[in-house]
Amino acid sequence: MEPRQVFDLMSPEAMRDPHPILHRMRREDPVHWAEALHVWILTRYEDVTSALREPRLSAQRADRVALQGRRGGDPAVMKDFVRVMRDMMMMKDGAEHTRLRRLGNRGFTTATLDSLRPTIQRITDDLLDRVEPTGRMDIIQDLSALLPSTLIAEMFRVPEEDRPNLQQWSEDIMHFVSVSLGDVEAIARAANEAIVQLERYFLGMLEDRRKHPGNDLLSLFIGEQEEGRLSSEEICAQCILVISAGHVTTIDQLGTTVFNLLTNPGELEKLRAAPELLSSAAEEALRYDCAIPFINRITAEDMEIGGKLIPRGQMLFLGVAAANRDPAVFTDPDRFDITRTGNRHIAFIQGPHMCLGAGLARRELEIGLRTLLRRMPKLRLDPDNAADREPGLPWLLPPASVVLLMSGELSGELTRMRSAGTCLPRGRPLEAPWALSKPASTTRRGARRRRGRG
Ligand code: HEM
Repeated sequence: MEPRQVFDLMSPEAMRDPHPILHRMRREDPVHWAEALHVWILTRYEDVTSALREPRLSAQRADRVALQGRRGGDPAVMKDFVRVMRDMMMMKDGAEHTRLRRLGNRGFTTATLDSLRPTIQRITDDLLDRVEPTGRMDIIQDLSALLPSTLIAEMFRVPEEDRPNLQQWSEDIMHFVSVSLGDVEAIARAANEAIVQLERYFLGMLEDRRKHPGNDLLSLFIGEQEEGRLSSEEICAQCILVISAGHVTTIDQLGTTVFNLLTNPGELEKLRAAPELLSSAAEEALRYDCAIPFINRITAEDMEIGGKLIPRGQMLFLGVAAANRDPAVFTDPDRFDITRTGNRHIAFIQGPHMCLGAGLARRELEIGLRTLLRRMPKLRLDPDNAADREPGLPWLLPPASVVLLMSGELSGELTRMRSAGTCLPRGRPLEAPWALSKPASTTRRGARRRRGRG
């Protein structure tokens, strides 16, 4: 009998950098049954991109997502979560998906996205104004966590006082969706409660917008409802999806993009010398370190992939991050090269479920990055606070925190505050002190958000 290959995606090394193991998996067993996770993992670009267009692979997986990782947890704990998720376009196939996606497309046209540029610029400038005088910032907490949440809140015209709640609820959802470590049942309960709260919130807002329509996403969605195509619950489910899908992903992507530029000083220098490379730098950052390294699908019937017979009803993890570093498609794939040409990365995937917010995310990345580099020409990593990855499974790899210095000055007071853990947003409890140079396994797991995996 063939010896079973072991690819320990949960080892501390893989959690810090999954690429060596993903490369080995692609070479040795590109369609791999991962017994521990009970899923098939695909790592070749060609297999992943074909799977993304394969109608026999279903996106209807709300119930499976609710149970995955809970190892026998009570399904009733997640009943509202499953009910609302089932209505999301991301969980639909075929005509049902198209019907809901059409609604989403209306809110994300090129003209709408371009009209948001000044808003993105204003939010970015406001956030940088706040930290500039201190001479230092945490890119995750001070910029990338706040830019997408403020922007989405403005797109929905959410009153300022409600925004922290919305942010917290969407984090609770994504925390669960990202296959959490720790007390999974407690995380599941929090996600279920968060979705109940969000649904209640949006149903209330829907009533309000019917009476006072405006120039916002929800009013636009109501227009579609009046044409008789959507229920109120369906509209709310799409709002919850947009809020949560557009939040954590962009936090991670902007954070890792800045981190990768600062840890590749040659590339940063090239970008400073030739700002017209900005868009190509952002695309390379999306390829090199994408916010959603895996997405999942379910086989709707028995099928063969890469010579393996996969029975109906099994879950596949499509390795987006692995595909983005496939040497068959990308020359020198582990090199971060902002001048890379013909970059066919799939960070936003392909096919019917291609990210609805890709255009928005690209504008946030470009404006955020350009403004940061223009306003902070001395930007560098804080040598006393080594950036660390958030611990978790290998699809949870954003930097937990990256502290940047904007000038030569270090504020002793701020350093002490951070060591005491006083700078964490939204008052969540710390599981470990604010100690960024500790190994991943001891950083503050659970203190803020995990990333989603779609
Ligand atoms: C860098 C940031 C982002 C990345 C890397 C990203 C990536 C993805 C990926 C991989 C999917 C496919 C998930 C699946 O099929 O299972 C997806 C879908 C989606 N994304 Fe994004 N996303 C980002 C930002 C955003 C933003 C800013 C929004 C909206 C404000 C958004 C809204 C959506 C929606 C609604 C879907 C579902 C589309 C459908 O099923 O038809 N995303 N995204």
